[in-house]
Amino acid sequence: MGWFEERADLAGTVAVVTGGAGGLGGAIVSDLADNGVRVAVLDIDPAAAGELRSALADRGHEVLIEHGDVRDPAELAALFEAARTRWGRLDTLVNVVGGTFRAPFTETRPKGWDALLRTNLTHVLHACHQAVPLMRAGGRGGSIINITTIEAHRAAPGFAVYAAAKAAVEQFARTLAIEVAPDGIRVNNIAPDFVPTPNLDRIGTGDSAMMDPEGVKVAIPMGRAGRLTDISHCAVFLASQLSAYLTGTTLHPDGGTSASAGWFNWPTEGWANHAPLRVLRESGTFGADGGGRV
Ligand SMILES: NC(=O)c1ccc[n+]([C@@H]2O[C@H](COP(=O)([O-])OP(=O)(O)OC[C@H]3O[C@@H](n4cnc5c(N)ncnc54)[C@H](O)[C@@H]3O)[C@@H](O)[C@H]2O)c1
Repeated sequence: MGWFEERADLAGTVAVVTGGAGGLGGAIVSDLADNGVRVAVLDIDPAAAGELRSALADRGHEVLIEHGDVRDPAELAALFEAARTRWGRLDTLVNVVGGTFRAPFTETRPKGWDALLRTNLTHVLHACHQAVPLMRAGGRGGSIINITTIEAHRAAPGFAVYAAAKAAVEQFARTLAIEVAPDGIRVNNIAPDFVPTPNLDRIGTGDSAMMDPEGVKVAIPMGRAGRLTDISHCAVFLASQLSAYLTGTTLHPDGGTSASAGWFNWPTEGWANHAPLRVLRESGTFGADGGGRV
């Protein structure tokens, strides 16, 4: 056994991952399984769940992949019960399910707010409510990991309720972390920025600048979009004993966008926390006289 395997101590542990057949979730499930974790997944997409099941079985992994809706507390409870019956323990919970649509807040309706809260917040509460007693019963502690977003840490025009729901998850995690700390159960968040996945395709990312090798350098200090493994490696770390003393906090695998907070690396002008005059003029919407005072 190598240094990582010995200190991470993941082999033989059990994880529940909601939304585990998607972009980020699939990478997290795969990396946990490759480190010897037995993973139970609940995902609403039957085709993706089927593909994940056969891909992991082909690699000889012991998994439980269920098709279902995490917003239904009964279906969620059934997954925890299936994992408990099969493996008799729970060490890790990863809450991945989440999603949004783009619309100015004033053009949205209570039905849409409710849908966003159910997709991004309420199931996290239900899952944690199921997980903590199982982790306590095991007496070995545990790790709860929520996939939130950079939008929980800044304004997100067009995504007000999504940002609010994810910020609520972050704050919930802080408090739960303290309540369950005496049991050795840790609660942390991972807040990605831009990682191309089917979810992002559905939302739409405006123009394609973020998919352009030069364009992405303007917004992301490290000069590239996130990769699935940038997120899944954080999840492996948080599930493992390498993070044994880390709780109530958030990892930001975002290439530096959270730290840069509004500063952009413009191709000609370099770092600025506003759009350069050249860009405004070239947009054709800025006054011919240069737009007044600069
Ligand atoms: N991709 C990004 O750039 C990015 C950035 C920040 C935050 N996030 C967050 O990461 C998480 C995962 O996003 P992703 O990009 O991997 O999306 P994705 O669409 O690729 O994956 C989401 C998975 O969840 C499943 N799912 C959706 N609703 C479900 C439900 N009600 N019950 C069970 N399963 C359900 C989907 O079938 C899919 O497999 C989300 O919480 C999202 O808000 C993603």
